[in-house]
Amino acid sequence: MATRAARTRFACRECGYESPRWLGRCPSCQAWNSLEEFKPAVPALVSSSPRPQTLADVDRSPDARARTGLSELDRVLGGGIVPGSVVLMGGEPGIGKSTLLLQASHRFAEQHGPVLYVSAEESIEQVALRARRVGALSRALSVLAETDVDAVMTAACAHRPKLLVVDSVQTVAASDAEGPAGSLSQVRECAARLTRLAKAEGIPVLLVGHVNKQGLLAGPKVLEHSVDAVLYMEGERHTQFRTLRCAKNRFGSTDEIGIFEMAEEGLREVPNPSELFLEERAAGAAGTVIVATLEGTRPLLVEVQALVGPAPFGGTPRRQVSGVDYQRAAIILAVLERRCGLPLHSCDVFINVAGGVRLLEPAADLAVAVAVASAHWDRPVDPGTVVFGEVGLAGEVRATRRAERRAQEAAKLGFRRCVLPRANASPVVLRTGIECVGVATVAEALKAVDAAERR
Ligand code: TYD
Ligand code: MG
Repeated sequence: MATRAARTRFACRECGYESPRWLGRCPSCQAWNSLEEFKPAVPALVSSSPRPQTLADVDRSPDARARTGLSELDRVLGGGIVPGSVVLMGGEPGIGKSTLLLQASHRFAEQHGPVLYVSAEESIEQVALRARRVGALSRALSVLAETDVDAVMTAACAHRPKLLVVDSVQTVAASDAEGPAGSLSQVRECAARLTRLAKAEGIPVLLVGHVNKQGLLAGPKVLEHSVDAVLYMEGERHTQFRTLRCAKNRFGSTDEIGIFEMAEEGLREVPNPSELFLEERAAGAAGTVIVATLEGTRPLLVEVQALVGPAPFGGTPRRQVSGVDYQRAAIILAVLERRCGLPLHSCDVFINVAGGVRLLEPAADLAVAVAVASAHWDRPVDPGTVVFGEVGLAGEVRATRRAERRAQEAAKLGFRRCVLPRANASPVVLRTGIECVGVATVAEALKAVDAAERR
């Protein structure tokens, strides 16, 4: 009993926090009932005795990175793949992780030599079908359909690839570890073994990890602390655009994003995302504006659209809202009516957020107000302008969190002007390289975007 207690540990499936005892609530991420039992595997014996080195003698130039050749991916990685690093690529099933990594593997193999792509969830035939479709037929790219992590490691040691891709970390398993593939202990153990391989042999490893909203599989969150970089692929499955974001990077910035378009022949890079956002919009259409919103800590630029027309005489005006909270939209319409004099009580109003995005934070309020006013006046907002800010009942525009981050993202994506809460227009924000217009009220914001239109 004593030995068992000493060996068994518990880890949070949400954040990876470890504890020697079971706890009802994770002290790190506050999730309830998220601690799972696991048995740490006995560390493998190292064949040679470890040899400490002085840092000055370590021969590794900082730009020893190998480019994959997919520049959007390289950008997010911070310039390429660092030798011996472990990168986790997370995303919902079906979003395009296997497609992207197969394309990256092909390009990498063409430039740097052998790549081993381990498919633990699809047969060789399925992978070959996809490879033919996306043109990933490099002679230096080999595929192995294998689910045993030790067999994968043996193959990697024999094959000595310049890059190892494991698709996915939730479908490989170690025969001597507890639980089925995808369980917390298996995911941790497989990732740990592959990390040891990467470090010992200097082979960079790309791991695929499915993000599961129901939390049925141990998610990539559990691995975030043990890998060198974590990338997330996002996008709506029914729209063709995919965004690659970096949640962690030991070798570079996490601010870069990569944008791809899913086409018949795989993922196509979108080198100028700002143009994409502007192109997607109907040129000069009234009733649309871009909002700089935050998804957790990550900024995202989204288009808010509105359509306003006369309500049928004597009928109840229609209010149809998707992508923003109905109650918040109703408040914003009331503020526009009362504080800015827009006669919306006699109008049908439709509000939509492009791309099926849901804007849940109050910082999107100002964009809704601007889009509705622009639609009502039939005057387009300058397409180079981004807005954000919370709207209060008195018609005031309230400060939002991380204004600097939002303005930075807008500047990075090529926007010229940002209309934001006056309280957020601090010197730091003003230095982000975008023209910032601080506004205290919705009426001021409407004037500010109208002025932009007349330039
Ligand atoms: P996939 O890479 O299998 O997703 P994941 O590995 O993240 O589960 O991509 C799945 C979707 O991508 C699938 O619905 C079909 C689509 N797709 C294309 O539209 N074009 C292509 O060339 C390929 C290979 C896939
Ligand atoms: Mg896949």
